[in-house]
Amino acid sequence: MKVLIAYLSYSGNTEETAQMIAERCREAKMEVEMHQIGVDPPINPEEYALICLGTFTWDRGSTPEEMKEFVLEIGYKPGHIAVFGSGDTQFGGDELFCRAVDKLWTFYGSKWPMLKIEQSPRGSQERKVIEWTEGVLYDVRNTTGNSKNVGTTPSE
Ligand SMILES: Cc1cc2nc3c(=O)[nH]c(=O)nc-3n(C[C@H](O)[C@H](O)[C@H](O)COP(=O)(O)O)c2cc1C
Repeated sequence: MKVLIAYLSYSGNTEETAQMIAERCREAKMEVEMHQIGVDPPINPEEYALICLGTFTWDRGSTPEEMKEFVLEIGYKPGHIAVFGSGDTQFGGDELFCRAVDKLWTFYGSKWPMLKIEQSPRGSQERKVIEWTEGVLYDVRNTTGNSKNVGTTPSE
């Protein structure tokens, strides 16, 4: 089974999270492809059993332009997108924390919980990344349909 991990990262936090997700996917014997948004050539979503889409948040809760362009490039709403990202509560507290993740998750109507990481995933948040990845992979493998109850809830 092929997994695409597509992410946008300027200072490395979302990339680190993407790499942690990739590591767990490989341990689970999935074939992983990494995609740097804004750098790598367009993708064909249908090639993958799962797409993990990662973004940071910018400018008072905004989605970065490169991510918007990637969404336009895909051109439709694939049903197999899981959304993750990093942010920082110092920029607007809980209300604006990882707002781009909220927006993408809602836009794609993702059937998996979203994953929000405060800056770097290293340390105490590592467990959160692993559990999120395992929850999504378990569901993809067992194709149970609606899995909103797996792992963390969207409001976490
Ligand atoms: C100018 C600026 C604005 C930001 N605005 C937000 C924001 O509204 N919400 C948020 O959660 N994080 C915000 N952040 C924090 C980044 O999203 C956070 O540092 C993120 O981990 C960066 O990801 P990257 O290392 O993958 O580039 C902002 C950072 C900068 C520099």
